[in-house]
Amino acid sequence: MSHWRTDPGAGQPASAAPRQPVTVPQLQEWCDAGRRIAVLTAYDYPSARVLDAAGIDVLLVGDSVGMVVLGYDSTLPVTTEEMMHHTRAVRRGTQRALVIADMPFGSFQLGEMRAAETAVRFVKECGAHAVKIEGGTKAAPCIAAIAAAEVPVMAHVGLTPQSINLTGRYRVQGRTDDSVARVLEDAHAAEAAGAFAIVLECIPWRLAARITEELRIPTIGIGAGPHCDGQVLVMHDLVGYGVGELSPRFVKRYDSFSERLGEAAARFRADLDASSFPAREHCYELPAGELAAKYHLDHYVFPHSEEKQP
Ligand code: KIV
Repeated sequence: MSHWRTDPGAGQPASAAPRQPVTVPQLQEWCDAGRRIAVLTAYDYPSARVLDAAGIDVLLVGDSVGMVVLGYDSTLPVTTEEMMHHTRAVRRGTQRALVIADMPFGSFQLGEMRAAETAVRFVKECGAHAVKIEGGTKAAPCIAAIAAAEVPVMAHVGLTPQSINLTGRYRVQGRTDDSVARVLEDAHAAEAAGAFAIVLECIPWRLAARITEELRIPTIGIGAGPHCDGQVLVMHDLVGYGVGELSPRFVKRYDSFSERLGEAAARFRADLDASSFPAREHCYELPAGELAAKYHLDHYVFPHSEEKQP
């Protein structure tokens, strides 16, 4: 979209009735009623508009932005300021979806007060409706402090990418005796601390099913099977944009944006080589009158046109 164009309805179905904003209590109601919750990551204004208009319930401004958009090799370098910048953009593009900002590495690990302060900043300065924090048992004091500061907080257990320096690599959790027990304990600790929902990442589907059955709050799965109350995917994985050859088995790819973008860019290159862009319809004319003659512009003719020089 050109930066000139500011029509507020762009990307919205023309006849759409005003849509009620999604709320935290509504997610619980949907969970209780068995309606699946659709969550995608979003990092910028145009994608937020499109996903919001498409009926996605929750837009998660994930710290995956660091790897997917900013090119870091993990999520660890992502700063609170970077997360705030992206959260503001997503919030500006959202009318209906609940916007959740991910608390980046270092923004909560150093203490509850810091965690609560950062969470409040996401709400006050960026318009986020809630925050997400990685961890269960260890993160419980921060979850409680954030909830006590009146900021709804989503937990995240199983594979927690911010723990990469402890785990060594991104791997499925809950496949050993210890690990199953830890994931279960983390999920219960997060709920007990006051989380309103919980992401279950990369755990066996039977374990996710048990957690979903045992917890009251909605479970949102990514690589956690079909029993979860909702599903989340990274938007770039969903549409095949900028992702490498290898994608985790839990990703279902619905499009090939990288390929399509590459093709469009190659066609642009070819148009320049063939001098077929810009065409007349992409150009501005002088107004009829004396200007062309006055400024000695009337001897210019449009390339490949039938126009004759005067
Ligand atoms: O950062 C992120 O995108 C996430 C989701 C994968 C849950 O945490």
